[in-house]
Amino acid sequence: MDRVRTGIEGLDQLLCGGLLRGNALLVAGSPGSGKTSLGMQFLHNGITKYGEPGLFITFEEFPERIYRDAENFGWDFRGLENQGKLKVLFTSPDVLQQDIIRDRGIVSEMIAEIGAARVVVDSISNLHDAEESPRGFREAVYGLVNALKRESLSALLIRELREKEEIGTGPEEFVVDGLILLTRGYVRGHNMRFIEVIKSRGSPHIAIPSLFFFGKGGIRVLPPFQEPFYRFEEAVSTGIADLDDLLGGGIPYGSFYLMEVDADLHQDIFDAGFAKEALEAGDRYVRIAGQSDDKSRWRALMKSAGMERRLRRATENDEVRFLEPDGETLSAELDQLCATAGAKTTHHHPSQVRSFRTLPPRSLVPMVHL
Ligand SMILES: Nc1ncnc2c1ncn2[C@@H]1O[C@H](COP(=O)(O)OP(=O)(O)OP(=O)(O)O)[C@@H](O)[C@H]1O
Ligand SMILES: [Mg+2]
Repeated sequence: MDRVRTGIEGLDQLLCGGLLRGNALLVAGSPGSGKTSLGMQFLHNGITKYGEPGLFITFEEFPERIYRDAENFGWDFRGLENQGKLKVLFTSPDVLQQDIIRDRGIVSEMIAEIGAARVVVDSISNLHDAEESPRGFREAVYGLVNALKRESLSALLIRELREKEEIGTGPEEFVVDGLILLTRGYVRGHNMRFIEVIKSRGSPHIAIPSLFFFGKGGIRVLPPFQEPFYRFEEAVSTGIADLDDLLGGGIPYGSFYLMEVDADLHQDIFDAGFAKEALEAGDRYVRIAGQSDDKSRWRALMKSAGMERRLRRATENDEVRFLEPDGETLSAELDQLCATAGAKTTHHHPSQVRSFRTLPPRSLVPMVHL
């Protein structure tokens, strides 16, 4: 299938490679949700990454704003226009609608002039008052989509959602090939942005709301279970393959990770997996007991993970230590341990281990790597 990549990190993954060539996708969201930025990035990537010229049709009253917003992301829209790779068309909905139905209108001339393969219309909400006449609005969008298809363009049509307006039943949705929704929501008290591919005709897609962020070069989407951005060369497995993937291979040697676990989740399963992986990798392992932890519970846990014999052998070989210090003696014991382990192990980072001291007592720190 011939796909048009948006070039936006993460979004192409949600679209399973990109939108189908010649398709028109609706990008809907409330004011300030990032619609225009996404549209501009789609065109900029098209030109700079894929050699596909683009047309930006906007009903924006202040043309300067488009160039300035693009510049904020480091995109030189004027420069690209001068090179004949981009056209920014400022027009009114009426003029556009009259023009596109003609075979040789201004728009089709522009498309031919630069050889445009992509188009963004910002925004179709201006075409017609959808609330006043849903039928008129649908016909207006239908006319536009047909004209763009006639020109073999791959299109993003921006649609503004009014407050509380739900997407999913809009009159234009039957006309477009797909729908991308931009929303905001709270995650643990933080206001975050989400992007969701709701439909993509003729193509599989991942319909899970995914976080996205504004950055220097535009937006970046974090799809669920994506490939990590980097891989550590040497890392110890957490014992959970998916988590290792998210971490870029596991926990890198010499580093210090804090794990926050919800009260209703049991951390034991993680502890056992981490200890098992460490011992199997031939590393030393130190366990520092928490409040409701003791050696027999630890043994039972390792036994349930099928590690009873391995634990016994590791204990005999001094590969594993279990510390049950009270608050006072913890740092002294750790210092001593680091000193002895340091002589025997290649991965020894006492300074990081020492920062244990500064942690609040109930922080979950089941792992130290020496
Ligand atoms: N570089 C950036 N860093 C952080 N946030 C940014 C950045 N650029 C834009 N934004 C945020 O994105 C918002 C607007 O983005 P954009 O213009 O793409 O949204 P929109 O959905 O088109 O809005 P409107 O409905 O007003 O046209 C801004 O209000 C700003 O909060
Ligand atoms: Mg906008």
